[in-house]
Amino acid sequence: MLTREMNERLTRVGPGTPCGELLRRYWHPIYPEARLADNPVAKVRILCEDLVLFRDRGGGLGLVQERCPHRMTSLAVGIPEAEGIRCCYHGWLFNAEGKCLEQPLEPGGTSFKDKVSIKAYPVQALGGLVWAYLGPKPAPLLPRWDLFVRPHGFRQMVGHQLPCNWLQCMENRGDLGHAVYLHGRLFQYALEREGRLTDDPKARYNAMVKTQAEALARGVTTKYRPIYNKYGFTKGMLNSDQSEDTRSWSVGVNPILFPYLLAFGPEAGDKRIRKSYQFGVPVDDTHTWHVNYFCYVVPEEIAIPHQDSVPYAEVPLQKPNGEYRLDYVLGQDMVAWAEQGEITDRTQEHLGASDALVVAYRNLLREQIDLVEAGQEPMNVFRDAAEIDSPELRIAGNDTGGAPMRATMLGASIGYRENYHKLSKGGWPYIDDDADRFCPDREVILELFRKVEDLNARQKEKV
Ligand code: FES
Ligand SMILES: [Fe+2]
Repeated sequence: MLTREMNERLTRVGPGTPCGELLRRYWHPIYPEARLADNPVAKVRILCEDLVLFRDRGGGLGLVQERCPHRMTSLAVGIPEAEGIRCCYHGWLFNAEGKCLEQPLEPGGTSFKDKVSIKAYPVQALGGLVWAYLGPKPAPLLPRWDLFVRPHGFRQMVGHQLPCNWLQCMENRGDLGHAVYLHGRLFQYALEREGRLTDDPKARYNAMVKTQAEALARGVTTKYRPIYNKYGFTKGMLNSDQSEDTRSWSVGVNPILFPYLLAFGPEAGDKRIRKSYQFGVPVDDTHTWHVNYFCYVVPEEIAIPHQDSVPYAEVPLQKPNGEYRLDYVLGQDMVAWAEQGEITDRTQEHLGASDALVVAYRNLLREQIDLVEAGQEPMNVFRDAAEIDSPELRIAGNDTGGAPMRATMLGASIGYRENYHKLSKGGWPYIDDDADRFCPDREVILELFRKVEDLNARQKEKV
């Protein structure tokens, strides 16, 4: 439970708010770069600021305030020129630094244009995303987290703008237990309602809930702890019947990279080639652009198809009839976050032992807000070029994925997809259980899965 004041302090992201000032120390992914090929001018909202992103005809990126300072029409309907963006109404031209270059309807020989400038922020492209920095100068370096720059990987991303505050998405990162019900029991119920459970009794049986209930009946419980590192923390989890040197407890799993990147390694099993980041970008106090960024990593001997850009697809929160779409993992998460309310009222919550990592994230966030207020630099603000290449690869636990989690009681639930699909007669491939099914290059991904399977089979034959 938080006080009303603390809930405000941790959630609001506008200029001048404590959390907004903290988040302005970081680069934020604001837009899929591939979309600029369709339309080089886009309206974006980030940290409660209305802005316009453009790629001019010289190839340069710019991010400026939305309103033209002449008579306030939107630059989102502007025209990209050789350098900068021209307002559609009377043709004022602005460059990426916000300088007014031309006022074509004004008499020449005056200094009027030199007296006019607009707000402009630095932008960079990396990993198929456009990133922006809205904070005090000098801007730090843009960190090159592993999956955005890894050379032998096939990338796709999916996202959705959710009608809720960013911290709700972020608190889910520490909430390992929710998989049992949100992705287990609810998944089963959603398929049941849609008549999609197979007749195979094994496929209908809910191993997640059963495993967890049986463990509880034996007196086994799972405990959690944050294992802090330079970039955030990994999540430690341990069953009460396990030894403390179990890797999921001693090293932890699935790092949280402050402020809001969550890294998943490849899971155990030869078909699981997907690494991913999840991040919820704070659009404003009550909206979050949530993105799953997938990188399919295969052995070097398998060729990766060339990608000119990283495709982006919107994933649905609802069906055409307005009901929530609950038949995939990310959809289940998004519904739970949105249904906590626009800014969930944490004065009314009742946290339990299974919320230990939710509390750990809040504490870290609170500490970093305090640092900025005290005039210091928060964590993960990089100013040394030697530090920005795949920093998370230097921390233990970044590559652990499912294998060590499977050793734990709740970790057993991470195999939930198999409870429905491994034995199903439907023969649904693994990636259909989650948001990957919406990836534009789904067929390419399936082909990569098949190639990895073939390679593994050939290697087994040799042995
Ligand atoms: S409103 Fe933009 S140039 Fe007039
Ligand atoms: Fe989830």
